[in-house]
Amino acid sequence: MSSNSNLVLIFDTTLRDGEQSPGASLNEAEKLQIAHALARLGVDIIEAGFPYSSSGDFKAVNRIAQEVKGSIICGLARATEADIEKAGLALEPAEKKRIHTFIGASDIHLEHKLKLTKAQCLEKAVKMVKFAKSITQDIEFSAEDAGRANPEFLFELIEAVIEAGATTINIPDTVGYITPFEFGHLIKSIKETVKNINQAIISVHCHNDLGLAVSNSLAALLNGARQVECTINGLGERAGNCALEEIVMILKTRQKTFDLFTNINTVEIARTSHLVSNLTGFPVQKNKAIVGANAFAHESGIHQDGVLKNKSTYEIIDPAEIGLKTNKLPLGPRSGKHALKSRLGELGYDLETAELESAYARFKELADKKKQVSDKDLISIVDERQRESVIETFFVLERLQIACGTGLPTASVEIKDLKQNTLLRTSALGTGPVDAIYQAMKELINIPADLIEFSVHSVTEGIDAQGEVTIRLKHQNKVYTGYAADTDILVASAKAYLNAANKLLEKLI
Ligand code: KIV
Ligand code: ZN
Repeated sequence: MSSNSNLVLIFDTTLRDGEQSPGASLNEAEKLQIAHALARLGVDIIEAGFPYSSSGDFKAVNRIAQEVKGSIICGLARATEADIEKAGLALEPAEKKRIHTFIGASDIHLEHKLKLTKAQCLEKAVKMVKFAKSITQDIEFSAEDAGRANPEFLFELIEAVIEAGATTINIPDTVGYITPFEFGHLIKSIKETVKNINQAIISVHCHNDLGLAVSNSLAALLNGARQVECTINGLGERAGNCALEEIVMILKTRQKTFDLFTNINTVEIARTSHLVSNLTGFPVQKNKAIVGANAFAHESGIHQDGVLKNKSTYEIIDPAEIGLKTNKLPLGPRSGKHALKSRLGELGYDLETAELESAYARFKELADKKKQVSDKDLISIVDERQRESVIETFFVLERLQIACGTGLPTASVEIKDLKQNTLLRTSALGTGPVDAIYQAMKELINIPADLIEFSVHSVTEGIDAQGEVTIRLKHQNKVYTGYAADTDILVASAKAYLNAANKLLEKLI
């Protein structure tokens, strides 16, 4: 495809660069769940992982390649035969596949990391693109650290790899150093200088170290790039990557200005963002553009008055465009299964009978406590059920009793060992109620793991809101994220611990 059309391809790397965020590790089933969500969102290319990096990554890419339809499934590989071969093997079952191979192109990378001359780098890149081409036709080549590379060498490298068969040329600003003016100029120079550039799509991959990832991607599009690499919620190495929801909604909201479009089904954005946030345990900052909890909240009286008179006074995007429905009455204790099913359907969830039964049981429990169950509560219920369904459950919480105050915080915990069909019970003291719960859990489950992060957020506003607890347990240098929501944050804390412990045990056993 030439890069002259108005279509901007969306290449999502949440499962590869996003998963490289420290602490964002996902298990195979979670990756698969996210990949299905990305396909529903209409992402053109899903970078599912880096198959050579670990057997877990290989298996996840392979499973996504088998099960996820619609999008091109891509695997990352360094410019080595072993990496490319592994990526090819993992991608084998995919309906549409892409191998993405990369090599450092800046003087800094060549000299300090690769110890290669420019000529050696070029030769290796060409050889590896040809090798990848012997496995599949759709080949993406990335000149890592292109933002700091010598432009003349970059042009030469690009021309040579296109000649060797690369169909997409990715220009990464690996360290998030470049500015929009410079990046736009670089892409323009590539278009003007590289003779065979029209035989490939120009892609960009911007990191956000200076907060410029989205602006840089936009500058590149204005100068001829037609693929943007991005992640949900802007996850990624260090300060993250270009946020998918932002670049897509800029192009949609300012269509007349840019005259560019994407294949993204934007009503899936809110739901996908929520899913990725929950599974990675990376909360979305409240004032984050597009998907933050406050992105459509109008606080000041003047703004509220304006919006009531006419939404366009202070709203540039209708929240419904990203799948947020705000005008529905909340469900309550008298709402039946049919009402729940139909509201979930409106929110984009089509549950199977067993899933609906389980969600309904939790809904009734919550409605009895809260009286009004909002859409956000419903999404959190479904996400929790789905999260539980993708991991093997060893332990569940049966009972929890807390004594706290100015005395000695004590937790009495009873959990069920589902494998042995036994109940385990103990009490423990802690520095506070959560610590007491976790001391008791440690004693019962008996796995050496350190709690390295604990956070609580409320799902909705109000004193009766559910609290979402996210924790991270570290065991032998691997991090396991646990999540749970409940109107009682101590119950949520206990369940989140068990969620992380179940994931850890699944890996160990
Ligand atoms: O940031 C980067 O350069 C990358 C490449 C592998 C594309 O992630
Ligand atoms: Zn990157």
